[in-house]
Formats: sequence, C-alpha cells, structure tokens
Amino acid sequence: MPPEETVTGVNWVHGVRYEGVDPGLLDRLLPQLNLRYEDYTYVDLGAGKGRSLLLASRFPFRRVVGVEYAEALCATARDNLRRFARAEIRCGGIEVVHGDAGAFALPAGPLLIFMFNPFGEVVMRQVAENVGRAFAREPRDIVVAYFVPRHPRPWAQLAFLEEIRVNDAMTLFVTKSYRGCRANFSRV
Ligand SMILES: C[S@@+](CC[C@H](N)C(=O)[O-])C[C@H]1O[C@@H](n2cnc3c(N)ncnc32)[C@H](O)[C@@H]1O
Repeated sequence: MPPEETVTGVNWVHGVRYEGVDPGLLDRLLPQLNLRYEDYTYVDLGAGKGRSLLLASRFPFRRVVGVEYAEALCATARDNLRRFARAEIRCGGIEVVHGDAGAFALPAGPLLIFMFNPFGEVVMRQVAENVGRAFAREPRDIVVAYFVPRHPRPWAQLAFLEEIRVNDAMTLFVTKSYRGCRANFSRV
C-alpha cells in the first residue's frame, strides 16, 4: 500500500505498492494475443506511473485507460503520457482515471484488462464481480491478463471465463467466445 500518497476510497489497505511492469513481458504478450486491437479497450487496473499504458498505446487499441487510486501516481502517469513521443502512439486515445479499481465503471465493448499484482483478494473480488456484472449487461469478449496472479480465485469462479496459462508469471482469463489466438498458450 502507498501510505505517502493521497489515495481515493477505502481500499488502500488492500493495495500493493507501485512497481512498473517489465516492458519485455507486455511487449511479448500483446502480439501473442492476436486480438483485433481496434475492437478492444485496454484497461490497466492499478496503472501506477503509466508504464503499461505507454506500452499498450503503441498498439492500435480502440482506447487505452488506466485506473489508479494514488493521486501522485496519477499525476506522474499523465505527465509521462504527455511526454511520450506522439509518433509512437497508435491507439484511439489514452486516459488516466483517478479512482478505485473496485468501483470502476468498465467501458462498453471488448476489453483487455491488465493487472500487475495490484491489490489483495478483497479488491480482486470486487473487480471480478464488477466484470461479471458488465458481462451480464453486455456479453462480449473479455481478456484478463493477470501478471503475478496471487489472487486468481475470484476469476476462476466466473463461469463465463476460462483460464489459460501463459507462463509462471502470467495467467489469462478469457471469455469462451474469445477469438484471439489460443494456440500460443496451454489451457489450465
Ligand atoms: C504493482 S503496481 C503496477 C503498476 C502498473 N500497472 C504497471 O504495470 O506498470 C500496482 C498499482 O496498483 C495501484 N492500486 C492498488 N490498489 C488499487 C485500487 N484499489 N485501485 C486503483 N489502483 C490501485 C497501486 O497504487 C500501484 O500503483
């Protein structure tokens, strides 16, 4: 948890301190998913200083959205995005939302939800239930890329998702309708 920052909401006790994702991991994963990027909104829940947003913005996603509850980290993420070379950006738009991932209103349409060990089981359950409600309202492709998957149980309990193991550090939960490339990964 980040006690030195201004954190919005009550979930700060369940948060994990900021650490940026290894760029190589995400850079390898995103092409392997073989998505129609234009259809998908990329959502990083616990976006920190925006590293994964920068990496994702180099793919032609419909939009790239980060949710971060620590105000200071949000400000740094927005600053980093402003300084990022325009020429590298291929997505339809980038946004950093200051808020609690457990209460985030998910965008419409197909989603790639990225998480790098951002919070404990209590918030993970809120997030998974939120995704469950969003899917019930609007069934669509949802891919959850969970890096350092310490709390997979709330995802495994959602009947419309199946688990795909990428490697020791990454698990995917994908809707059964997922049309991306499964051949690159082994089923759990
Ligand atoms: C391990 S860092 C990952 C940073 C970024 N996703 C990346 O991969 O570079 C986890 C981040 O989640 C944020 N976080 C923890 N709990 C959160 C919550 N409930 N809502 C929003 N952000 C949260 C922390 O402040 C921290 O910045």
